[in-house]
Order: sequence, then structure tokens, then C-alpha cells
Amino acid sequence: MALSKRLSFLASLLKPYDSVLDLGTDHGLLLKEALSKGYIQKGLASDIKPLPLKAAQKNLAGMNVSFYLSDGFSQIKADFDCVVIAGMGAKLIAQILSGCTLDITYILNPMDDEDTLRWFLQNNGFKIIDEYVLWDKFYYQIIIVRRGVMKLTKKELYLGRYLKKSSDYENFLLHNIHNLKAIIQQIGQGQSLAAIEKLKILKIYQDALNEVKNPAKID
Ligand SMILES: C[S@@+](CC[C@H](N)C(=O)[O-])C[C@H]1O[C@@H](n2cnc3c(N)ncnc32)[C@H](O)[C@@H]1O
Repeated sequence: MALSKRLSFLASLLKPYDSVLDLGTDHGLLLKEALSKGYIQKGLASDIKPLPLKAAQKNLAGMNVSFYLSDGFSQIKADFDCVVIAGMGAKLIAQILSGCTLDITYILNPMDDEDTLRWFLQNNGFKIIDEYVLWDKFYYQIIIVRRGVMKLTKKELYLGRYLKKSSDYENFLLHNIHNLKAIIQQIGQGQSLAAIEKLKILKIYQDALNEVKNPAKID
């Protein structure tokens, strides 16, 4: 099976780490790429369901990987210096991270509601240290955090602090502006609280696009 651009990019982010937990591993392909390319030395593959874990065991046969049937971190007894939680909704990621105080790097790739996840992170002792946005049939955001303190603005809840360096950033903004305009047209501009909120978010994206197109000139 060809590896998706998303998983290949996630694997490349693992180079600084020795042992990595892929929480919610499913097929195990992220660890397979990271181990076979020599990015990491050891993998821990976990899933809440036996069938995906079996698939991972098959795909990772012969590699330096331990397997765990585990809801979140509950059954993971070994040490690791980075965890990847990818391909899940923001609310599930937040639920998995609730009460987690491990001093490691967390690489998060929510499938939706990145603003909700950033809000959770801010209010639960996590600090964003890097972020990416990439296009792979959809726009995906990757949020890298450690334990720490941060205070995000409303704009940063939607667009993070570091997304703008990604090459797909401008197209990501254009894509969201297009979608937001379509939603606002559907729900009726200015006629409901939902429409007013969407207009505020649209302005965040439009201002960000203006910043990209007209970067402040340095004299
Ligand atoms: C859509 S797959 C994502 C697979 C892979 N991480 C990726 O990014 O392509 C989500 C996986 O997370 C697992 N999962 C869901 N809730 C979980 C939990 N609380 N703890 C561990 N794994 C969970 C599911 O069983 C499923 O295999």
C-alpha cells in the first residue's frame, strides 16, 4: 500500500526521537515508515481495538516494536520520548490527553476542530512548539506540543502560531475563506448568532491572507 503524503510527513517529523508511541496506530504504517527509514530506533504501537492492532502486528512483523491493546495511555507501561496521536477527531484527542502529564513531545494530527483542540491544550498545561498545515486530498494540521503554558489569541486558536511557514498555508487560507463564504451564504449573513460567529472567523482568515499577500515591509 502506498503511504499517504500525510503519514510520510508525520514520519519525517519523528527524526529527533528515539522511541515513539503511535497511539491509535490502526495499520501501523507510520511506524513502519519511521523504522524502515531509520528515523527512530523503537516503536510502540497501540490501539483500543484488537483488529487494527492485529493489522499493525502483521505490517510491523520483524521490526523493533511493542504492541499494546490500550484505551489511550492506560496500558502503556514502557517509556517513550514522543507520542503521535493522528487521524482522530479533536474531541477524542483531547479526551486521550486529559490528565496526561508525561514530559514528552506530543505530535497531534486532528481530523477536525483544530480550534477546539488548541483551546483544550491551552487550558490543560500544554504549549505549542511547532505546527504545520499540509494538503493531502484535505487540509491537515499538525500541532506539536510539550507540557507548558501558553495564552492564545482568537486568531491563534484557528491558525496557530507557526502554521504560516508551511508552503500550503496560503492555499489553506483561500480554501477556508471559500468554504466560510459558502456557509455564511447558506445560513444567511448577519441573521443569526451562528452567522455572526462565522463572519468573525472569516475575518480572521481574510486578515491572515492579507498578511501573506502584503507582508510588513522592513526598512
Ligand atoms: C482513523 S484511525 C487513524 C490511524 C492512524 N493513526 C492514522 O493517522 O492514519 C484511528 C485509530 O484510533 C483508534 N482509537 C480510537 N480511540 C482510541 C483510544 N481511546 N485509544 C487508542 N486507540 C484509539 C481506532 O481504533 C483506530 O484504529
